[in-house]
Amino acid sequence: MVLAATLTNLAPTASRLPVSRPRLPAVQALLPWLSQIDANRWYSNFGPLLRGFEDRLAGRFAGPTRVVTMVNATQGLSLTLRALGAGEGGLCAMPAWTFVASAHAVTEAGLTPWFLDVDPETSMLDPERVKAELRRAPGAVEAVLLVAPFGQMPDVDAWLAFQAETGVPVLIDAAAAFDQARDARLPLVVSLHATKALGIGEGGFLATEDGALADRVRELTTYGFRGDRNARGLATNAKLSEYSAAVGHAALDAWEADRRSFQRVGQRMRLSLALEPGILFQRGWSLQWVTSVCVVQLPGPWAAPAAEALETLGIETRAWWGRGCHASDAFRDCPRGDLSHTEDLARSSLGLPFASDMDDHEVDRVCGGLRRIITCL
Ligand SMILES: Cc1ncc(COP(=O)(O)O)c(C=O)c1O
Repeated sequence: MVLAATLTNLAPTASRLPVSRPRLPAVQALLPWLSQIDANRWYSNFGPLLRGFEDRLAGRFAGPTRVVTMVNATQGLSLTLRALGAGEGGLCAMPAWTFVASAHAVTEAGLTPWFLDVDPETSMLDPERVKAELRRAPGAVEAVLLVAPFGQMPDVDAWLAFQAETGVPVLIDAAAAFDQARDARLPLVVSLHATKALGIGEGGFLATEDGALADRVRELTTYGFRGDRNARGLATNAKLSEYSAAVGHAALDAWEADRRSFQRVGQRMRLSLALEPGILFQRGWSLQWVTSVCVVQLPGPWAAPAAEALETLGIETRAWWGRGCHASDAFRDCPRGDLSHTEDLARSSLGLPFASDMDDHEVDRVCGGLRRIITCL
């Protein structure tokens, strides 16, 4: 009743606010790069734009890093799991708190997802807990797929120690972590999908300090070829074209300015909700690192009613990962541990509208609406 009355007072203003409003480079920014393609008459198969794009991406990493681009991060994860030698038919330990693409990649690599719970503090797998779980694994564990939730990177040192101790290879699904992924001592895969912080439409890349792994993944993206026309093994075609690389160059040219815009909008949101102790942002979000979505945790199981109330105000929200990856029909039969933290997270997390060009009025509309709704729940 109180909520209904509050919503009536908060008249739905202006147009509907979408949860996501991606912005890729405009045509004027693309033209110089596209002109180079015209001049080169090289359109795909590792042309100069693609090589240059990979070099620029590799240059963002702290150590000596190789980058291998591909058509999307789902393929990138799957091909990297294969290149890591994860034995087909085995299990891949992974968090239930992720997007379904992570589990699709695992199954495409011939592995079965083994869903484990995340740590309630970090929303990620915890190496000590996974180590303990390994003793109870319902089969041979061939790999661990860590997920950097909504762009927040895991503790690489702790996972390197886990890998050394257990011998199980670790891969990071860093799909949304373009900004924070700067350390490739563990292999990681970043998405360049249009909805990500650095988007090119569709695309992704592996970053790794392991040159042999990079070579194997490259081979898998190009028919099993390694500079000749001999297919060394079963592979696919997952290459990016020069056109995608052109968008990538233009996006990188704009990155520092885009990053500042994400930061400005995010910081205004944080400030606007700072006096709401129950609303939690991801640690460091928009302060130390940026990404293209805003996911908050609300007190208790309030995400669904808050989403419904915001919708009546013309504010779109999204439960980006639904009830957790394990809850999708496709993965219902996969083995799993106790997933209570994941289920709590699914009930309390809410994706709010966020974009690098949100104006102050839009930010205030979202945060003001949420503040008032929370007081009534
Ligand atoms: C955690 C996670 N992994 C993988 C992917 C797949 O990325 P792509 O769309 O590039 O295949 C996504 C996409 O949103 C994601 O959020």
